[in-house]
Amino acid sequence: MADMRVNLAGVELKNPITVASGTFGFGREYGQFFDIARLGGISVKGLTPLPRQGNPAPRIAETPLGMLNSVGLQNPGVDAFIAHELPELKKKNIVIIANISGNTPEEYGEMCEKLSAAGVDMIEVNISCPNVKAGGLTYGTKPEMAAEVTQIAKHHATVPVMVKLSPNVTDIAEIARAVEGAGADAISLINTIRGMVIDVNTHRPVLKMNTGGLSGPAILPVAVRMVWEVASAVQVPILGMGGISTGADAAQMLLAGATAVAVGAATFADPMAPVRILAELEDYCTAHGIEKVSDLTGAVQPW
Ligand code: FUM
Repeated sequence: MADMRVNLAGVELKNPITVASGTFGFGREYGQFFDIARLGGISVKGLTPLPRQGNPAPRIAETPLGMLNSVGLQNPGVDAFIAHELPELKKKNIVIIANISGNTPEEYGEMCEKLSAAGVDMIEVNISCPNVKAGGLTYGTKPEMAAEVTQIAKHHATVPVMVKLSPNVTDIAEIARAVEGAGADAISLINTIRGMVIDVNTHRPVLKMNTGGLSGPAILPVAVRMVWEVASAVQVPILGMGGISTGADAAQMLLAGATAVAVGAATFADPMAPVRILAELEDYCTAHGIEKVSDLTGAVQPW
């Protein structure tokens, strides 16, 4: 079998399959389906300085080959995570990535300090949530603001900082270069693509917030293209995500330039998706005589 270990900005993952923030909670529910220690890592639900109820319902809509969400960063807050969720996660042999969102750059800094001290393995700085008024896309769509948040996060964190980018921009490579220049240790992409669904009977948008973020297999080709563009623009490692639902999808993302991948919406349809995708990727490596999965990273041969 291929050596499935990968190194993401100095953090050793036992395999390249992680789960995407917001699709796996804090691991408790999916732990009933499989041992989450089989995964390379878990990115927990996006944390904010204070607890958030999220946006009003309806906040999920099914779409062809995907889903639209406007959850609005519902979470118990960083302190409750550290007190009640992190101790449980730490009992598992799994890399813990804390995903954070702030209203100001200073809030990102405060959370980086707390989470580093609490012993997470990595921090994912979310500057790409499309469902909140403050923070989120405000930072993720302007290179100078993305750089400012990254710089402050780096200043306060003692663990590697990965910045999660939005696809809702004209030139994602420009944002990637800005966060790399500001010290990001890694980059994750893509977050969801802004979308809208209208109920033709009521003439109302299905989501109470009118718009939301699209995820699922429909966005895979966009994600692969953007990972490829970012990989060509920066040196730091990439965690690729967006529509992965098979081992072949994961292989595409690695070939495009990702060091590891995150499985997201697929887990809603199939709770076993992350471990199934891992097994399929292992089979793919065996079938193609690949000895180390890390050899796939960036191995695409463009025409
Ligand atoms: O609305 C949400 O909680 C989604 C967050 C995100 O896409 O980062």
